[in-house]
Amino acid sequence: MKPMPNIDSLIIHFDRALRTLCARATSVRPLPGGALEETRLEEHEKRNAAALMRVNHAGEICAQALYHGQAMTARNEEVRQALEYAAAQETEHLAWTGQRIDELGGRVSLLNPLLYAGSFTIGAISGLFGDKWNLGFLAETEKQVEGHLDDHLGRLPEGDQKSRAIVAQMKEDEAGHARTALAHGGAALPAPARQAMRAASRLMTSSTYWI
Ligand SMILES: [Fe+2]
Ligand SMILES: [Fe+2]
Repeated sequence: MKPMPNIDSLIIHFDRALRTLCARATSVRPLPGGALEETRLEEHEKRNAAALMRVNHAGEICAQALYHGQAMTARNEEVRQALEYAAAQETEHLAWTGQRIDELGGRVSLLNPLLYAGSFTIGAISGLFGDKWNLGFLAETEKQVEGHLDDHLGRLPEGDQKSRAIVAQMKEDEAGHARTALAHGGAALPAPARQAMRAASRLMTSSTYWI
């Protein structure tokens, strides 16, 4: 069992949070659709695409915080390492969505610090429940994110192939993260927990579209 977090690890987590929120994320994989030509979008299409990518960027801030929180309290070293691979891909998602928001002339969500704090707390608490529930929670999160990215593929402007390429790759990655969590013993969450998570994610997506 992991010892309780001490002051050093709290400082490390605080530093990680600041870097996630303030520094530009980097990606090892090339930007999906990076070689595609930028198409001319109407002003309202551009605004809509930037807002949808802001929602996705905020979702990735949440993902970072959840993984960081879980890493603090997860008990099994093998599980922790498996999660680290997924967490690295989440950092890439953060970089891709951030870059696309810039290209579309948009901005990231003002709610990001709040979302990070909330998600970190949820991640840390879920880690305390033990790996079976921790991984089950993660698998359910990833499944819901996959569904929401699918919804965005229907809502992004048809001509915005660059945003669509990013969202499509993210969707594939999230499905992989859910499989990893289940393969490591994640349990199916009870229906009320799944519903509460859906309600929280609706609140997050509808607020960050505007704020
Ligand atoms: Fe992601
Ligand atoms: Fe993911």
